[in-house]
Amino acid sequence: MTDTRPDRLTLALSKGRILDATLPLLAAAGITPEVDPDSSRKLVFETNHPGLRLLVIRASDVPTFVAYGAADIGIAGKDVLIEHGGADLYEPLDLGIAKCRLMTAGLPGAMEAASHRPLRVATKYVETTRAHFARLGRQVEIIKLYGSMELAPIVGLADVIVDLVDSGNTLRANGLEPFDLIEQISARLVVNKAAQKMKHAAIDELIDLFGGPAAQQRAS
Ligand code: ATP
Ligand code: PRP
Repeated sequence: MTDTRPDRLTLALSKGRILDATLPLLAAAGITPEVDPDSSRKLVFETNHPGLRLLVIRASDVPTFVAYGAADIGIAGKDVLIEHGGADLYEPLDLGIAKCRLMTAGLPGAMEAASHRPLRVATKYVETTRAHFARLGRQVEIIKLYGSMELAPIVGLADVIVDLVDSGNTLRANGLEPFDLIEQISARLVVNKAAQKMKHAAIDELIDLFGGPAAQQRAS
């Protein structure tokens, strides 16, 4: 249940990269969860800070929990925030962690091979992909996938993909190459708009704790 006390914050994180990158930032500020989220089936974790508890949920659900006030704040990748839309959230801090790039990619020559017809694009970022190709004036047919996007061009499901690229190893391992950059990605702190008003002191304290200037340095 939402805790309306102004000194109690609920922070939504996603299992995986964001949790792995956030726990050291919290630990550096002396905050640790009551049990290790990596080895627990729990979804709500109290911490040794009486004013902070954690929710561990799917990455793509973080903006929804925060927008509805089920969590006061959350940490989500910019990719997830762009896809969500984000107008119902404040985004006060770039944490400079979980950095990567949202790109189009495919087999060499894939864009040219499809130049005379609508481009088939496989992605889990349907809205972002629609907006990107609309800006370019390129007609597309979008195929929604939930993971392993790199497989789609190899088996002829799509001409290209829109997905995250970090080292480029996954693309290379599958004989694909990166094409266009859509967005530089990193994890952002997002805040529920009502909580920002009702709990601003606790939220400002948490932003400081994540190292406002240090975060900006990681982000640059
Ligand atoms: P879900 O299970 O909800 O689909 P996910 O599998 O995308 O989530 P993660 O792989 O942990 O979850 O990714 C969480 C976030 O980390 C992404 O939204 C993105 O911002 C960032 N991220 C994803 N892949 C990479 C990568 N290879 N390098 C750096 N950051 C990444
Ligand atoms: C992400 C992304 C790419 C890969 C890119 O996948 O979807 O497949 O990382 O990273 P690279 O450029 O360093 O290879 P992830 O490892 O999260 O797997 P998933 O999407 O199947 O969860």
